[in-house]
Amino acid sequence: MPNIKKIGVLTSGGDAPGMNAAIRAVVRAALYQNLEVVGIRRGYKGMIEGDFIPMTSKDVGNIIQRGGTILGTARSKEFRTEEGRQQAYKNLQEHKIDACVVIGGDGSFTGAGIFSKEYDIPFIGIPGTIDNDLFGTDYTIGYDTALNTVVEAVDRIRDTASAHERLFFIEVMGRGAGFIALLSGIATGAEAVLMPEVENQEKGLIDYLNRQNKKSNIILVAEGSHAGGAAAIAEKVKEDFKDYDVRVNVLGHMQRGGSPSAFDRFLASRLGVASIEALMDNQRSSMVGFVNHETVLVPFNKTIKFNRNLNRILLDVADILSY
Ligand code: F6P
Repeated sequence: MPNIKKIGVLTSGGDAPGMNAAIRAVVRAALYQNLEVVGIRRGYKGMIEGDFIPMTSKDVGNIIQRGGTILGTARSKEFRTEEGRQQAYKNLQEHKIDACVVIGGDGSFTGAGIFSKEYDIPFIGIPGTIDNDLFGTDYTIGYDTALNTVVEAVDRIRDTASAHERLFFIEVMGRGAGFIALLSGIATGAEAVLMPEVENQEKGLIDYLNRQNKKSNIILVAEGSHAGGAAAIAEKVKEDFKDYDVRVNVLGHMQRGGSPSAFDRFLASRLGVASIEALMDNQRSSMVGFVNHETVLVPFNKTIKFNRNLNRILLDVADILSY
């Protein structure tokens, strides 16, 4: 058994629905192992500022269904500096914290990996981001909820698009990845999906608009798509298709909020428990992932180095079904 008596838990980077369920699972699994738990507020920023609170089982009651994160989150520039990390280490030592669980995305794991190399504090990561872009896990916490949010929004826009016979460009999040765009595109029957993983999609879109004879169309645009954002693409299309009544809708941060889906609550619960088991098993600098419905452990350097690829079969599915 490792010599861990007290752990810290933090959420870092963009929040995602299900982060609270993960905090709850980490706290309760740690208490089950007779560990003390401290919540670190506002991610690495709070670690540097010493913003720590003790956490009991009661403190994480009634949060499994809540969006956001009760610990708060931040994207910390200071943690990228040696001075920032040194201060963070001092604070962890002062509070006798022996190990940490960080819930976040690849930026959060990059920071954890560097910190763990510099100072002897084991870190385990739990993938929490709506983007689903982490190598080593089939799903990240928050993605399923965000997908459902997007599907509901697009269905609503579809109603008004049909009523007015309009062409809508709807922009969704995902940073450099097209998972949200592609899966929600299939689920809403979008006429086309533009995403960062595929180059030169403008020509295909123009060809499609020339040959189709639908009265209304929904084009889903991933924010990182090569063709630009929804507004830029809409401007180009307006020039070539003067008869179309074009509208743009950027869904934005509403995709990050809301009560987590059953799947995200389940995933967060499993990965939270797995993160404590990993620490008890002397593991460090690794992410707990979920592959083929089983938990796995993936070293941070792999999750950071490799990109998670879109399943190319799904690109065909989207194309075939919008024919
Ligand atoms: O990584 C999650 C995410 O929501 C991305 O999809 C998006 O590009 C980014 O965060 C937005 O970040 P911020 O909330 O800092 O504007």
